[in-house]
Amino acid sequence: MERKDTLTITDNRTGKQYEIPIEKGAIRAKELRQIKMHDDDFGLLSYDPAFMNTAACESAITYIDGEKGILQYRGYPIEVLAEKSNFMETSYLLINGVFPTERQLKKWTQNITLHTMIHEKIKKFMDGGFLYDAHPMGILVGSLAGLSTFYPDAKKVDDPDSRTIQVYRMLGKIITISAYTYRHSKGLFFVYPDNDLSYSGNFLNMMFKMTEPKYKPNPVFEKALDLLFLLHADHEQNCSTSAMRGVGSSRVDPFSALAAATAALYGPLHGGANEAVIKMLKEIGSVDKIPDYIKKVKAGESKLMGFGHRIYKNYDPRAKIIKKMAHQVFAVTKKSTLLDIALELERIALQDDYFMSRKLYPNVDFYSGLIYRAMKIPQSMFTVLFAIGRTAGWVAQWLEMITDKEQKIARPRQLYTGQLNQVYVPIEKRF
Ligand code: ACO
Repeated sequence: MERKDTLTITDNRTGKQYEIPIEKGAIRAKELRQIKMHDDDFGLLSYDPAFMNTAACESAITYIDGEKGILQYRGYPIEVLAEKSNFMETSYLLINGVFPTERQLKKWTQNITLHTMIHEKIKKFMDGGFLYDAHPMGILVGSLAGLSTFYPDAKKVDDPDSRTIQVYRMLGKIITISAYTYRHSKGLFFVYPDNDLSYSGNFLNMMFKMTEPKYKPNPVFEKALDLLFLLHADHEQNCSTSAMRGVGSSRVDPFSALAAATAALYGPLHGGANEAVIKMLKEIGSVDKIPDYIKKVKAGESKLMGFGHRIYKNYDPRAKIIKKMAHQVFAVTKKSTLLDIALELERIALQDDYFMSRKLYPNVDFYSGLIYRAMKIPQSMFTVLFAIGRTAGWVAQWLEMITDKEQKIARPRQLYTGQLNQVYVPIEKRF
């Protein structure tokens, strides 16, 4: 039989046949609209709650093969980037599509570093506008949205020069605002950025500097944090990235879209899972209580947080790298009983048919929280750290979306299941 890259559909309601092109392993959902019962029909829709099988865009940024556990940024395996690159270089790669030369990387890093300062009014807004116990992610979402009012030029989303400045601003200011969410919760004075330090070192400076004249980050922590930023930098069309693209598709300024993406990340099924893992490990309390906990999970009473992924049906490659890094960090800090529980939990779960048959493996969040905890970063800041790394990916995806000729405002359809043409009954006649 002659091979043709098309799909033939027979509509058994009408007996009509349709031939639909297959491109890049997909059909265009809009092609289904020609399938009609009558001429004035709207045409067939595809129904895909939670977007289980819908590609919403073309993208050249991140490749994932969830069955094989492969993750690549711009065609470079995550394992290679983790070993040889760093967050600044990788964010350049994600955003610009190619690796920088030495000179380009220096300029890139300098431009981002020069944009770490925030307007004093943002600082005041953060200090005076939120309760002492406000969750750092709530403060981050609000403050990022607030940034849009400080940079009205960011509304020029079709101007490449304006976009470039906003990219520096987003990547620069996210560490400052993030660190301030922590200082606020502690009632501590805000620390200004120190431009001599690396990106992750500067963040640690703004988090932890006290009275010392010059903050010196612990090199193991600085490196671990840089690696965690790199590993979290992008993950194609996840919930928060879809929010960045979807909100950005209205042509709103990127700070507003960034706030929306950060809000999506806040959810416990997305970026909030790293916090939930620590809560779960604490709840388990000791290695001998693991079998009881596993029983509860299998009975559907709770979930094994940090396990499972919509895309990965294999070991998350980021979790493998983070697990290795956890051992390095714990070599310079106090040993953690929570790490012992996590390792044993993973060992038991990966031998259990419940998890194996559902292809549930540790995801990026399973070990990351343990490292943050060892670095004395409080639990409520874990998702904030995720947001810092992911900002690089959000920015790359936003730029790709905004410059995509085919992109229009994102606007899904629905299958209406409600009533029609109801008669209004005055309130005194309702029962
Ligand atoms: N613990 C126990 N059972 C699980 C878990 C888990 N962590 N995850 C999935 N399952 C079970 C489900 O109950 C379901 O079982 P069933 O077929 O008997 O009903 C089956 O596995 C399939 O799960 P779904 O919920 O359909 O998978 P989905 O792709 O919708 O969800 C998700 C993926 C949200 C990540 C899920 O695995 C989960 O809730 N995990 C825990 C939270 C977590 O770690 N999130 C971080 C994800 S990574 C990230 O966002 C950075």
